[in-house]
Amino acid sequence: MAGLAESLLKTDFRKLYGSAEGMRVFRAPGRVNLIGEHTDYNLGFVLPVALDLATYIATAPSAVPSGPGKLRIYSEFRQEMREWEVADLGALTPQRHWTDYPIGVAQELLRLGLAIAPANLLIRSTVPEGSGLSSSAALEVSTALALLAGRPLDPLDLARLCQRAEHNFPGIPCGIMDQYISVFGRERSAVEIDCRSLGHRFVELPADITFVAVNTMVKHALAGSAYKDRVAECAAAVAGIQRKFPVVKSLRDVSPEQLESVEPSLPAVVARRARHVVTEDARVGRYVDASARGDLALMGKLLVESHRSLQHDYEVSCAELDFLVATALTIDGVLGSRMTGGGFGGCTVTMLRPDAVTRFSEEIARAYQRQFQATPQVYACRPSAGAGEVKDSEEF
Ligand code: GLA
Repeated sequence: MAGLAESLLKTDFRKLYGSAEGMRVFRAPGRVNLIGEHTDYNLGFVLPVALDLATYIATAPSAVPSGPGKLRIYSEFRQEMREWEVADLGALTPQRHWTDYPIGVAQELLRLGLAIAPANLLIRSTVPEGSGLSSSAALEVSTALALLAGRPLDPLDLARLCQRAEHNFPGIPCGIMDQYISVFGRERSAVEIDCRSLGHRFVELPADITFVAVNTMVKHALAGSAYKDRVAECAAAVAGIQRKFPVVKSLRDVSPEQLESVEPSLPAVVARRARHVVTEDARVGRYVDASARGDLALMGKLLVESHRSLQHDYEVSCAELDFLVATALTIDGVLGSRMTGGGFGGCTVTMLRPDAVTRFSEEIARAYQRQFQATPQVYACRPSAGAGEVKDSEEF
């Protein structure tokens, strides 16, 4: 590691902990999902991109005068330091606090028989929190790497461990997408993930388009409970569909024709949720095919169809997201736009011509400001590499 950024991080680490002896830095990226929303926990398809926005954790062994020693974690964003005896980590319970993410990860490592050594951690992140760009998965994956401190773990096991941490500690029944893309991201590529087989293929996107994320700067309180409700509604849909098609194990297995034939027997809300998932899964495949053919118009149209489906059938959008999508579609050079991530706030993702980015950013910010009296942040989405140790710190 070399460069100014590293020396700054080292200086800050030393200021905080007194020594940066043996310091290593691990990085895990946030993501933007291009298409395939709320399909992951239905074992379907998703097409995310790992971003150059990432969480970095600097870690060094802590000196232990006597006894088993402590794990200390400092979050720059929260400006908060927490510490625990490493011997107590396994028995901690969730606190509804940001540390639930790292502690959840520590407990999953312990469950695998991987001991946690006394260490000092410093978290520095460029993934905006609560933005739907997956700051939690970035925190989980970077924590796991920092606590492993170089011990090997199969990449898929790493992603699954972090997903389990989120299920078991903060208690969110999330799919695998966010942790998976944080581990498996690749520069200049989107990643099509099959959430049943847990395999993936890299999808090179056409050169004459680019993507930007626009942050509504809101996260409505409903987000957590509605996510759990949607997971339950999808399970109810599967149970209903199984009465006619017993081979169906998840919504991934349901064809549009099958769904149509059982729709009248399902509660209306449950049928709408299933319709979103089944049509969205099909859109991922069509989007990837259109991308291979360079059919930009169809790609854009599919993004908008995805948004409408999330808005009306899945009901996870909100006024701010709908406004950003509607406004984006009026701006020259924009090919398509949709909400991205869990919903109820967070970001939209917009596909546009590279030469339209500056005008787009100015116009959308002006319109949003006028409507909601808030300045939306706009992020260029540069497909980046997945998680790992940072050897060359030029990037942060
Ligand atoms: C959140 C979850 C993901 C996924 C998306 C919606 O980001 O963490 O697993 O379900 O919502 O696509």
